[in-house]
Amino acid sequence: MRIDIITVLPELVEPFVQESILGRAQKKGLVEIHVHNLRDYSTNRWRRVDDYPFGGFAGMVMQCEPIDRCISALKAEREYDEVIFTSPDGEQFSQPMANELSLKKNIIILCGHYKGIDWRIREHLITREVSIGDYVLTGGELAAAVMTDAIVRILPGAIGDEQSALSDSFQDNLLAAPVYSRPKQYTAVDGTDWGSVPDILLSGHEARIKEWELQQSLERTRRLRPDLLEGK
Ligand code: ADE
Repeated sequence: MRIDIITVLPELVEPFVQESILGRAQKKGLVEIHVHNLRDYSTNRWRRVDDYPFGGFAGMVMQCEPIDRCISALKAEREYDEVIFTSPDGEQFSQPMANELSLKKNIIILCGHYKGIDWRIREHLITREVSIGDYVLTGGELAAAVMTDAIVRILPGAIGDEQSALSDSFQDNLLAAPVYSRPKQYTAVDGTDWGSVPDILLSGHEARIKEWELQQSLERTRRLRPDLLEGK
């Protein structure tokens, strides 16, 4: 898989995609992530990529030409399955969308900025507009990072224990069950007893543990996110 991220702030995105699981996934050859500085595609003497909106509105608008030039250059090299624009008015990002995008071969993520982008880019180049939540960020870089992270970590081999990506919260529209590690019983620094690991997890009965995990997931989902169970 290949992900091309187009941004006016490559210095923000680049270190994120080189670290940890994303960095390792690239070294393992599971994914190529390329970050492009939109200003490299400006024909303006000052490398500008935005201008005032017609109609006297407030704010600046990302112009057609640099984005067109950048995406055209990428498309000349390979075909893209999706050209995604990060925007608070887009379709809400979710685990099913991450799963779906992780099956694509090549995707472009264009990070929005300023007041918006020239409408014609949305009409002619963008195949999908995606929001990571109902709040407004200063730019689309964090949204691109969130999406890239969620997509790459589910690529087979990206995290050591493949099973753990499949048992994540939301993979079955269920929240994850509680997990515990050593010690079996923990007394906190202030002397409070934080309790013990549930016996079932120490029992070695694989089938009963699976059943416990499912019951816990269902109970937590019912309590915290009943909306996820609608239609189940
Ligand atoms: N750009 C600004 N806010 C955003 C959001 N919530 N999701 C995606 N892109 C954005």
